[in-house]
Amino acid sequence: MTSSTDKQASFATPDNTPQLQAFREVVESRRSVRRFTDTPIPDDVLTDCLRLAMLAPNSSNLQPWEFYVIDDADNRKRAVKNCMNQNAAKTAARLIAIVARTDVWQDHAQQILREYPDTPVPKKVKDYYNKVVALDFLRGPANVVSAVKWSATQVFRRVKGPIKSPYYTFEDTKNWATNNASLAAENLMLALRAHGFDSCPMGGFDEPAMKRLLDLSGDQHIIMMIGAGERADNGVYNTQFRFDQEQFVHYV
Ligand SMILES: Cc1cc2nc3c(=O)[nH]c(=O)nc-3n(C[C@H](O)[C@H](O)[C@H](O)COP(=O)(O)O)c2cc1C
Repeated sequence: MTSSTDKQASFATPDNTPQLQAFREVVESRRSVRRFTDTPIPDDVLTDCLRLAMLAPNSSNLQPWEFYVIDDADNRKRAVKNCMNQNAAKTAARLIAIVARTDVWQDHAQQILREYPDTPVPKKVKDYYNKVVALDFLRGPANVVSAVKWSATQVFRRVKGPIKSPYYTFEDTKNWATNNASLAAENLMLALRAHGFDSCPMGGFDEPAMKRLLDLSGDQHIIMMIGAGERADNGVYNTQFRFDQEQFVHYV
């Protein structure tokens, strides 16, 4: 068995140029593709892409994401309609809903302790998931715990210095889950590209209708739909461009 430390050691070799080249090729050749060919994405390829998606970094390893691969023909027809009949959905070999969950932090904290790779689970880890994580997310009925957390945080900041802002509201938790699921979505799109396929992220869809179709609860938020498949010759609509890096990067 190779440990993650062994892997890190081999990644740290000075000659990492082939990896860098391969990474650049994957990132630079990814485009939002709006038309796909009829070529299917094999199940094993999609499974690998989803596995790579879920290797995305995520807050406290709580993994608040889900991926709905809409394969059923009837569901697919309705999902395409909910994606406003965009070509990127209509022609996609696979259509995937990326979902962020606001209700799994507690269960996943306990699952981490059950499935933790080192036994016995270190006390520090147990305390973190049982106490720190719980306090970070807990809102209480009518946000009463949040109000206490807010006051305590203000006092702590003034008296002792910096403290991480806990999650006070449902919106805070939704932002948290969305951040995590977005990173997985990007991994998924890059993995598809590395496998020779392409994708189009879509925000242009009817979220309530899509949630009804997928039978999702108020704690399951579709952050994006992804159409995936093999790029058609006319699949890319325009030349890729970005603003100057200087506009966005601040060395302070
Ligand atoms: C959150 C998000 C929502 C998007 N929604 C749509 C969409 O509904 N339809 C579409 O054709 N492209 C959509 N796109 C793709 C963007 O238009 C595209 O990423 C951008 O124009 C840059 O092009 P590139 O991805 O080829 O570099 C979306 C991208 C993101 C990240």
